[in-house]
Amino acid sequence: MTKVIAPVSDAHAARFAELIEEHLGLRSSSRIELKAVMAARMRALQCYGFDAYLDRLESPLSMHEELRELAVRLTIGETYFFRSPEQLKVFTKIALPLLTQSSPTRQIRILSAGCSTGEEPYTIAMAMLELGPSAWARVSILGLDINPQSLAKANRARYSPWSMRATPPDCVEKYFHRESTQYVLDQRVKAMVRFEERSLAHEDLRFWQPRRFDVVFCRNVIMHLSARVLGEVVARFARVLAPDGFLFLSHAEPLRGISQAFRVEHAEGAFYYVLREARRSPAISISSVSRQRSSLIAKTTATTGPKAPECKLPLASAEVGGPAQLLPSLSLGAALMKAERFDDALATLQALAPADRVDPDVLLLTAIIQLERGKLDQAAELCASLLARDDLNAAVHYLIALCHEQGGRRAAAVDSYRAGVFLDATFAMPHLRLGLLFRREGDLPGARRELQNASMLLAQEDPARVLLFGGGFSRGTLIDLCASELRLCEASN
Ligand SMILES: C[S@@+](CC[C@H](N)C(=O)[O-])C[C@H]1O[C@@H](n2cnc3c(N)ncnc32)[C@H](O)[C@@H]1O
Repeated sequence: MTKVIAPVSDAHAARFAELIEEHLGLRSSSRIELKAVMAARMRALQCYGFDAYLDRLESPLSMHEELRELAVRLTIGETYFFRSPEQLKVFTKIALPLLTQSSPTRQIRILSAGCSTGEEPYTIAMAMLELGPSAWARVSILGLDINPQSLAKANRARYSPWSMRATPPDCVEKYFHRESTQYVLDQRVKAMVRFEERSLAHEDLRFWQPRRFDVVFCRNVIMHLSARVLGEVVARFARVLAPDGFLFLSHAEPLRGISQAFRVEHAEGAFYYVLREARRSPAISISSVSRQRSSLIAKTTATTGPKAPECKLPLASAEVGGPAQLLPSLSLGAALMKAERFDDALATLQALAPADRVDPDVLLLTAIIQLERGKLDQAAELCASLLARDDLNAAVHYLIALCHEQGGRRAAAVDSYRAGVFLDATFAMPHLRLGLLFRREGDLPGARRELQNASMLLAQEDPARVLLFGGGFSRGTLIDLCASELRLCEASN
């Protein structure tokens, strides 16, 4: 008689999820999916007790093989050749020249972490081949993944037309030949890449040695990792990268709030990371681009105690982020700004002791006030000094974008708004500004996208952030503005 497996209980599914996170690093997908995978594995192994299956997963004798089976079922391997070509441009035009400028014969060691079926590391190999023998002769490329089936496919190096969809025709011609419906990769490219089965979640000091790689590509991977493992993985990347090394993540995976070890840069329409201590590349540093919230917001919305001047800011019970003596002035400055008494607000901040005037939050509020007063140069200067201290501040980046826009520098403004959005996906105002800009320029699809995002985000936006960055408008007015701009988009169609 066929044995029937009872539905997996929540407690067993939770233990299963913990083991998946510990060994594969994956954040738990839906409970339903986990239960289905667990039940399927138990059927395949003819293992009819949940505890027996979980014991098997924890036993040193069977763990390795079972984890490989699970990696096949739980990972998403979507990839293709020449994905995100703008990052490839940064790699060839900025990273390689910088890495080799002091020593032209330097060996360039590249890691493709989460390489799936090999398209990413092979694309890097083709890019090196395109640069000529002096480039490819001194490169080593390692592809790493936890999914053994993907790696087997990477080693076979035979691809469907779907994998080739973004490959430039001349590269198809040069580096592949057809066998029936398959594209077979040239041996020259294949020989440049080595693959290894390994989990990013697994700390192995022999592998993750300091300064072992010059460039790490880990694109479209970290979004699948649990928050805990993600922090560990990024710390590992910081360790294994040479001090002047480069880290490429996908655009959907900012390191905001995850690591202070890296600084984000922008060039060729792409974002990438360098170690904070590294020398600056010639790319535009998008500096600002911050943690989710400026600590100013925490300070101005913090309960300021009985001695604080009366202020109509939305008071929250947030912990205070800085020296207590600053809070009254910050609160008062923000309140005066809200009342559009910009000169008084500025005077309040300028009356602070010189040491307090350079507090980042005082500088940020001063920059906002200067912008409101139309003093673009002063605002830009303040932002520059903030960027020098904290290049992960979305709010500062947004202010810089405003300076650019008001100064008529459209392309720089768009870049900076995008940087703000990139580093803080919940920040409504850069979306709104982009929407307004695009509508004025007649880019209606772009305008609609940004305005819809802005409208959605504004509904959830932190009240203090609306106050600081909303240009004096209330949340309701800003949402109405989005709606009327969207109507104008429809009317122009
Ligand atoms: C969506 S693919 C990305 C492929 C390629 N990097 C790209 O951007 O086209 C994600 C890959 O990450 C791998 N992966 C997920 N978790 C991993 C881990 N803990 N260690 C190593 N690889 C992992 C998956 O097996 C999958 O092949």
